[in-house]
Amino acid sequence: MARKPAAKSPSTSTPDIESILKEKRVLKPPAEFAKKAHIRSFAEHKKISKAAQRNPQAYWARAAKELDWFKSWKKVLDWKPPFAKWFVGGKINISHNCLDRHLEGWRRNKAAILWEGEPGDRRTYTYQELHREVCKFANVLKESGVKKGDRVAVYMPMIPELPIALLACARIGAVHSVVFGGFSADALRDRINDAKAKVLITSDGGWRRGTAVPLKQMADDAMKGTPTITRALVVKRIGEPVHMQEGRDYWWHEAMEDASAVCPPEKLDSEHPLFILYTSGSTGKPKGVLHTTGGYLTHVAHTARLIFDLKDEDTFWCTADIGWVTGHSYVVYGLLANGATSVMYEGAPNHPANDRFWDIIERHRVTILYTAPTAIRTFMKWGDEWPNKHDLSSLRLLGTVGEPINPEAWMWYHRVIGKKRCPIVDTWWQTETGGILITPLPGAVPAKPGSCTLPFPGIDADVVTKDGKSVPPNAGGFLVLKRPWPGMLRTIYGDDARYKQQYWSEIPGMYFAGDGARRDKDGYFWVLGRIDDVMNVAGHRLSTMEIESALVSHPDVAEAAVVGRPDDMKGTAIAAFVTLEGSSKASENLKKVLRDHVAKEIGPIAKPDEIRFTDSLPKTRSGKIMRRLLRDIASGKATVGDTTTLEDYSILARLRESDEV
Ligand code: PRX
Repeated sequence: MARKPAAKSPSTSTPDIESILKEKRVLKPPAEFAKKAHIRSFAEHKKISKAAQRNPQAYWARAAKELDWFKSWKKVLDWKPPFAKWFVGGKINISHNCLDRHLEGWRRNKAAILWEGEPGDRRTYTYQELHREVCKFANVLKESGVKKGDRVAVYMPMIPELPIALLACARIGAVHSVVFGGFSADALRDRINDAKAKVLITSDGGWRRGTAVPLKQMADDAMKGTPTITRALVVKRIGEPVHMQEGRDYWWHEAMEDASAVCPPEKLDSEHPLFILYTSGSTGKPKGVLHTTGGYLTHVAHTARLIFDLKDEDTFWCTADIGWVTGHSYVVYGLLANGATSVMYEGAPNHPANDRFWDIIERHRVTILYTAPTAIRTFMKWGDEWPNKHDLSSLRLLGTVGEPINPEAWMWYHRVIGKKRCPIVDTWWQTETGGILITPLPGAVPAKPGSCTLPFPGIDADVVTKDGKSVPPNAGGFLVLKRPWPGMLRTIYGDDARYKQQYWSEIPGMYFAGDGARRDKDGYFWVLGRIDDVMNVAGHRLSTMEIESALVSHPDVAEAAVVGRPDDMKGTAIAAFVTLEGSSKASENLKKVLRDHVAKEIGPIAKPDEIRFTDSLPKTRSGKIMRRLLRDIASGKATVGDTTTLEDYSILARLRESDEV
């Protein structure tokens, strides 16, 4: 995008959605699995879906009744498009539902969290122990001046103090905003400022591939520009010396020493905000996706139970970092609300060797594994010998999330990890949706490798044209949701107008997800990927504009355009086309400098895989960068389609040669 990014509509106005995937395999749920599942047959699934379609509010109300409410709701749904309120008038507390209610029976001594650090240290928290820690930390938050409705920023590695911090916020009605530990100091600062967070919870560091990640140092840099932060609470994880600013920074363990373990949960309105989670949109400014209490918990608890077929004997491992929505919903809230055992691992999958995941599964006897296609493809590349060294017979169900899974990776997961015994649930959802929306139920819905199959009961999903008309079977179109669901985002924090514009204006009267999809003749959904200016890189969501803004903030860069190109391993790789300021010289060294600059501005996950220098970028007469062309060039394809609006034809040939500096 240009140096001064002009307002730009997503490239969805000319959809170029074409599906080339023809996958014919259908795998029925294994009979052994189906026999014992919560939902046992396709017929039962159809019956439930039909009833939920007729009366979605009754369906969700039944799910909500599985939770413990201090006061029941008066109205299931108050829908003033596009603003929804669920379980209006109800009073509830999520921490009470995830902890206190399990203490009344035998679950009090059940493992809630089985945690393993990268160096091999381990900690187990029973529900009772977790409850005690959460109550104590909730009191620490109160003593730190945090009140109901205040925002608390969280920047931590995957250690037990992270879910403890979230549950403590939920207990007192504070709103957490977790910033993934892989984001840079600048990204953390901007997110803290957008949410006006009062307190920051962080740690001295975390372990990643044998190296200590200096989180506190980055938090210190961030806090140089965060006027609203009055206190930082710091977990000692690494033990390396860190700077502690007098009067602002306090050690977690010291603050916890004298904290009382008594902290009754706040009775919160169903619509009380629970968390903000920043995600990339099609502009340079990340969006603070706001989720609230009663509807969100209903959605994640109910979907976790049915989609993962959760039973009390299960040991569930979702490998996502809690810095992403998957971790919020299916490491913490959805799991603990069901009284389940959730596994947490701090580090990298190849530390100390490529079989760390399989080793964890064998030792903890994990029964359900939920991970990302990127991880699966990486394991495939590392070779079958790593999983084959381990006893994976405890596994009974596998799941994937975050990006489309290619049928080859699906089949590998099925064969090598699931030993053809385990169903696979390919779950489609988003930060904004709060919980899973399109997915098989493992004992009921036949799987087709590469398809996330059918909408969850009560969810009205479709594939439509720009004017909202359903497309015929197998035609590509826009993936939309046609009615509200309990886990949906309520707004973009502090920006109702952007919420409306971003999700509800592209296709009138419908929620536009930003994905292209097709439905086959059986109604199965095949997600084709993002069709806006968002990329899905190794399961992480990044905006092209964000990376462009980071690049043009470097003094040598005049203009930058960023596109995704297909990558066997990461799904999408980041390609940047850069024009330089007059006196700057293209060089290999400058490529490195620019990649590091993006890492500093956003985080290492956003580093372009490839940078090409060019003397100008292809634009339409109105000045819009022709991304489709850049995508084709980046992926080595011949240029196809209409180029008549190109301002400067000669540029195409030059761009194709531009990888030679
Ligand atoms: O493009 C879709 C893809 O991930 C996007 C949402 O990203 P994020 O908000 O970071 O949440 C990821 C975890 C829920 C979607 O718009 N996506 C997610 N799940 C799938 C998927 N694409 C295909 N199949 C999936 N199962």
